Amino acid sequence: MMKVRKAVFPVAGLGTRFLPATKAIPKEMLTVVDKPVIQYVVDEAREAGIEHFIFVTGRNKAVIEDHFDIHFELYDTLAERGKDTVLDRLQRLQPGPGQTSFTRQQVPLGLGHAVWCARDLVGDEPFALLLPDMIMQSEKSCLKAMVELYAHTGNNIVAVQECDPAETHKYGIVGKGADAHSGFEITAMVEKPKPADAPTNLYINGRYILQPEIFSILENQEKGAGNEIQLTDGMLRLREKQPFYGYHYRGRTFDCGSPEGFIEANVAFALQREDMRERIGRLIDEISGDIHPGSEIRAAE
Ligand code: UTP
Repeated sequence: MMKVRKAVFPVAGLGTRFLPATKAIPKEMLTVVDKPVIQYVVDEAREAGIEHFIFVTGRNKAVIEDHFDIHFELYDTLAERGKDTVLDRLQRLQPGPGQTSFTRQQVPLGLGHAVWCARDLVGDEPFALLLPDMIMQSEKSCLKAMVELYAHTGNNIVAVQECDPAETHKYGIVGKGADAHSGFEITAMVEKPKPADAPTNLYINGRYILQPEIFSILENQEKGAGNEIQLTDGMLRLREKQPFYGYHYRGRTFDCGSPEGFIEANVAFALQREDMRERIGRLIDEISGDIHPGSEIRAAE
């Protein structure tokens, strides 16, 4: 079985849910605590053993390419000033030479079309697909667990997690079959079903391992919902030929493509930082307990 060596990051979306913030700045470059959203997703892929990072970009996204490049002047200045800790961190986050590729989607015709744009860079091998909007907080990288499952099942894998049963109409939902190693067989994939029609409340959360046959399917894929070329439509056709397995992820997922998810991610990641936990926690207590800032000082006077 071929190892999963490459990961695709579709970053060509317009980010309309996050306007005006995303008018000039790609939403993938908005920061959660002190790293851009896209860095979290690339770190997750690296932890899973991915060796090559493929970005499908679009207009106004060039800064993503710069972010993953070496910044000589900055690195030299940091070294001269003895800022070794920050320099070391930057270097550890940096992909090596030749480990990144960038292609342009040119027109945002949908996620399925963005994935298809990576066909030549991926070639004839299985690949990981990570939606960069979705960032995960868990002890173990979600993709790493999927790669481990893949070593036993092969074929195609999607990560899923529970949603509110009343909200299935917002997601791609899967049907759950027999257990298969640390995952399960997928018996159905339904795009945005009404709660009454949903086979489960397990939604596809933005992490996939797909076989390269998806590219020839997407090549001829008609436009679907929202007049876009939908990945889900392509996966449904791929499932007619190859099995799909589910990995039930149990950590947190934040949809950083929406302002609410992005704020939640900032709070959750800040609370995980030793140097910030106390201060942010106190602010949350203050606001939720309606304690007014300065009330302690006044009491002492
Ligand atoms: P979204 O629908 O969440 O992204 O697509 P969007 O279109 O940027 O968001 P809104 O609704 O306008 O706010 C999921 C992922 O697919 C990428 C997006 O960048 C995002 O990471 N995508 C989507 C593309 O790369 N190309 C597309 O044509 C559409």
